Amino acid sequence: MNTINTGIIGCGFMGYSHIENLRRVPNVNIQAVADISAEKSKELAQKYNISKTYKNWQKLVEDPDIEVIHNCTPNHMHYKINKKVIQEGKAILSEKPLTNSEKESAELLKLAKDKDVLTGVNFNYRNYPLIRHARKMIENGELGEIYLIHGHYLQDWLLYKSDYNWRVEKESGGPSRAIADIGSHWCDMIQFLTGKNITRVFADLSTIHKTRLKPRLEADTFQGKEKDKDKKSKEVVVKTEDAGILIFQMEEQVKGVFNVSQVSAGHKNCFDIEINGSQMSVAWEQEQPNKLWMGYRDKPNQELVKDPALLNTDSKSFAHYPGGHPEGYPDVFKNMFITFYQAFRKNKTIKDKVNFATFKDGYQENRIVEAILQSNNKQSWIDLI
Ligand SMILES: NC(=O)c1ccc[n+]([C@@H]2O[C@H](COP(=O)([O-])OP(=O)(O)OC[C@H]3O[C@@H](n4cnc5c(N)ncnc54)[C@H](O)[C@@H]3O)[C@@H](O)[C@H]2O)c1
Repeated sequence: MNTINTGIIGCGFMGYSHIENLRRVPNVNIQAVADISAEKSKELAQKYNISKTYKNWQKLVEDPDIEVIHNCTPNHMHYKINKKVIQEGKAILSEKPLTNSEKESAELLKLAKDKDVLTGVNFNYRNYPLIRHARKMIENGELGEIYLIHGHYLQDWLLYKSDYNWRVEKESGGPSRAIADIGSHWCDMIQFLTGKNITRVFADLSTIHKTRLKPRLEADTFQGKEKDKDKKSKEVVVKTEDAGILIFQMEEQVKGVFNVSQVSAGHKNCFDIEINGSQMSVAWEQEQPNKLWMGYRDKPNQELVKDPALLNTDSKSFAHYPGGHPEGYPDVFKNMFITFYQAFRKNKTIKDKVNFATFKDGYQENRIVEAILQSNNKQSWIDLI
C-alpha cells in the first residue's frame, strides 16, 4: 500500500486532534504542518516528528509532495484555504463549519464538482459505532414511522463574562456562534441518522453576555476557564449568540425541537438525541457513547452496550475493540480518517457516494444556520427552499 502525504493547517486543538488520530491510520504520512504562529507549528512538528513546517499556509497547499490537506483553522479561514486546495486539485478535509456563509459554501461546492476532487467535512460524531448502528436500524424501518426528534447540545466553557475565544467574534467565528459551532453537529447528526433534511426552522437565540472581557492573550479552545483571568482585559460588545431554542421540520413531516447553549453550568459536551418512531424510540448521549437506549411501549426497554459482535454489519467496522472496552471521542476522528483515506485511495471524488460528510453536507449545514439566523431576526418560520 502506498503512503499518502498529508499536510495539516492550524495547530490548535483540532490540529493536535487530527495529527494524533491520523497517526492511527496506516500508511498516512503527516509531512507538513502550517500555523500563523511559528511557535505552535514547530512545537507540534517536534513532538510528532513532522519534517516540514510552514508559517504561510499557501506554501503548504502548493507543496507538490502534499496530496491531502486538513484545514483545522478558525472558521473565517475555511473559505480561503478550502478554495485554494480545490484550485490546486488536491483532496480537502475541512473542519466544520465548511465556511461562514451559505454563499461561500455554495461556491466551494460548485468548484469541487468542477475540479472533481475529494472533499470531507469533519462532522466526526457520525462515526460512533452505535450511531452507525442506530442509523441502520432507522433505515431498516425498525423504528417505524418517525414521529418526533428532540435533544440538545450544552456546554459551559463560555459561561462567564470573562470567558473568551475567537469564536465569540463575528469576524472570526462567523455571524452565528453556538448554533454554527455545536448546533451544526446536532443538525448534521439527525439528518444523518434519519436520511432526511431539515426543511423549516423557527429559532429564538439569546446573547446572555452582551459584552465580554477580551484578554490580552487569547485562551485556547475549552481552556478559558483554566487561565488566570487577565486584569488588563478589554470589555468588548458580543454580536454572536450564547444559546438558542429551536423547533424544526424535516422531510416527510417529521418534527423536532432542540436547544443549544455554551453557558449551561455543569454541561461539558452534553450532546443528546432522542428519536421517537411508531414502533420504538432510540436515544444516545455523546458523553456515554457506548450505550444506545431503546424504548418500547409493549416490552421492557433495552440498553445496547457497544460490542462489535452485537452491531449490525454497517457499523461493525466503526468499532475497533471488543465489548466492554469503551471507544470515544478520539476514535471518531480515526473512523472519519479511515473512511476518508479509503475513498482517496479508490480515487473517489465529490461525485461519488462516500461514507462520511462531504462539502454537500457542509453546504446544507450553512443553509440551516442562515435560516436559523433569519428566523431569529424575523421571529417567524423560515423555509429552506
Ligand atoms: N469537529 C469537532 O469536533 C471540532 C471541535 C473543535 C473545533 N472544531 C473546528 O476546528 C476549527 C479549529 O478550532 P480549534 O478549536 O482547533 O481552534 P484553535 O484556536 O485551538 O486552533 C486554531 C489554530 O489555527 C491557527 N491559525 C489561525 N489563523 C491562521 C492562519 N491564517 N493560518 C494558519 N493558521 C492559523 C491558530 O494559530 C491556531 O493554532 C474550527 O473551525 C472549529 O469549528 C471542530
